[in-house]
Amino acid sequence: ENAGALSGTHALVTAGPTREPLDPVRFLSNHSSGKQGYAIAEALARLGAQVTLVSGPVSLPAPRGVNLVPVETARQMLKACEDALPTDVFVSVAAVADWRPARAATKKLKIKGAGSEHPSMELTENPDILKTLANKRKNRPSLVIGFAAETHDVEEHAVAKLKRKNCDWIVANDVSGDVMGGTENEIALISRDGSERWPRMGKDEVARRLALKIAETVGDEGDG
Ligand code: C5P
Repeated sequence: ENAGALSGTHALVTAGPTREPLDPVRFLSNHSSGKQGYAIAEALARLGAQVTLVSGPVSLPAPRGVNLVPVETARQMLKACEDALPTDVFVSVAAVADWRPARAATKKLKIKGAGSEHPSMELTENPDILKTLANKRKNRPSLVIGFAAETHDVEEHAVAKLKRKNCDWIVANDVSGDVMGGTENEIALISRDGSERWPRMGKDEVARRLALKIAETVGDEGDG
């Protein structure tokens, strides 16, 4: 059922955290598991899309039928995404670190013992991958979907994010509960035309339904 609905299309998905080095043995990162992004990549492939999955370090097997491009830093993730263009769809699920250490030491940093000054770390802003791809003049994917993890005023923040980043849709999830790292998700899908709330369901089911919505939209464009 619906198999082949996305055949002939190319989809780019980012997933997982990024890892920003401080020195050869230390990094800044976050708790993203990659589950939702991997499930979306797999669901798009099931509908026949050619899928490039650019992923930060996670402990998940590569989804079947997907071209997995492993990366570590946000800058590597941006480069891998740009190399994957042109694509019809871009789903930005990765939890990209907003900041990275301004300098990554080539040798392990020696942190002095107790009683000495506190070491400090200078941070610098990472590129915003979603915003960069959504604002491409040439090769902008025709459907750009961002994710927004919010703890309150979910829809309001998501609408602001949609405009700020120039996305077509935002998948907003309320992470005030136990969603992060878990197997279920509760989302609202926000577009320029309005929003719809989905009941709480498994991340695989969110992925399946989102892939079907994507197929309806991209398919419509293809027919017209
Ligand atoms: O602004 P915020 O980080 O909450 O936006 C989340 C959305 O932006 C997600 O879709 C995430 O993948 C994307 N993002 C990105 N590059 C960044 C930060 C966020 O692609 N540096």
